[in-house]
Amino acid sequence: MDESITPRRFVEAFTYDIPKHWLPGNEVVSSLLNAYTVLVPANEAFYIRTLNACLPRITDASLRKRCQAFIRQEAQHGVAHKRYWENLDAQGYAYRGFERIVDRAIFKTMDRWAPLWLRASLVSCVEHINAYLGYEFLSQAMLEGADPRVKDLMEWHFAEEIEHRAVAFDLLQAISPSYPVRLAGAATTAALFYLLMTGLAVALLVQDGAFWRRATLRQAAAHLGSNHHMGRRTIRHLWNYLRPGFHPSQLGGDDLAAAVLARQVAARPPVVVAMAAKAE
Ligand SMILES: [Fe+2]
Ligand SMILES: [Fe+2]
Repeated sequence: MDESITPRRFVEAFTYDIPKHWLPGNEVVSSLLNAYTVLVPANEAFYIRTLNACLPRITDASLRKRCQAFIRQEAQHGVAHKRYWENLDAQGYAYRGFERIVDRAIFKTMDRWAPLWLRASLVSCVEHINAYLGYEFLSQAMLEGADPRVKDLMEWHFAEEIEHRAVAFDLLQAISPSYPVRLAGAATTAALFYLLMTGLAVALLVQDGAFWRRATLRQAAAHLGSNHHMGRRTIRHLWNYLRPGFHPSQLGGDDLAAAVLARQVAARPPVVVAMAAKAE
């Protein structure tokens, strides 16, 4: 499924006229993905440091190659999301202090104190979360009607998360395959991810004065329940990760991801361009 992972650069231009709530009529989903955008670069830099630390232990040539392609994709995600931060700044959001605290207090602290097996397990679980979010957003066409530039950024990222979804899990199996290790990483990651995402999305909605509106509550209920069913789907995806026979390939979504990426490469001007292969 992911034998050929292609690093791509997101080249579409952003200007400063992107609306604050770029998914019309859904401030909740716009704010959740704005929070995702803020948290992505430090998060992905942590994956890259973790994979680089694991690489000397990997003897399988194919897995090494997939890890290297994964690192190049994640590096580009961080670059593109940081470009989008300029829009958040222009819109007047305060989030950079929070982002720095999260990076220092969580990711840099993990680098120092958490053993490599735990860091690899955290990355494996968060990569499952990235992949199922991508799967749900693409398969349910949740971004239909969104500002096309933000839609492109998010859909490119989601598609590549589906494309490389098995790399971190396979790496964890290679260096520390025990079930309690997977469990420890899953418990820590799921709690942290949803706490940070929800906390920051709420902070952005409060800054907009939108948090206490009845429409916001209705949108949150529709996202979690009646419309996108993300409450029960999230529980099911997390539960799947805990099954002893789990493998990320079981999620599916390869066709969805391939269709997004083919469309974005073929667009004129292109949304993303494939990067040249690196010499070994
Ligand atoms: Fe990513
Ligand atoms: Fe990823």
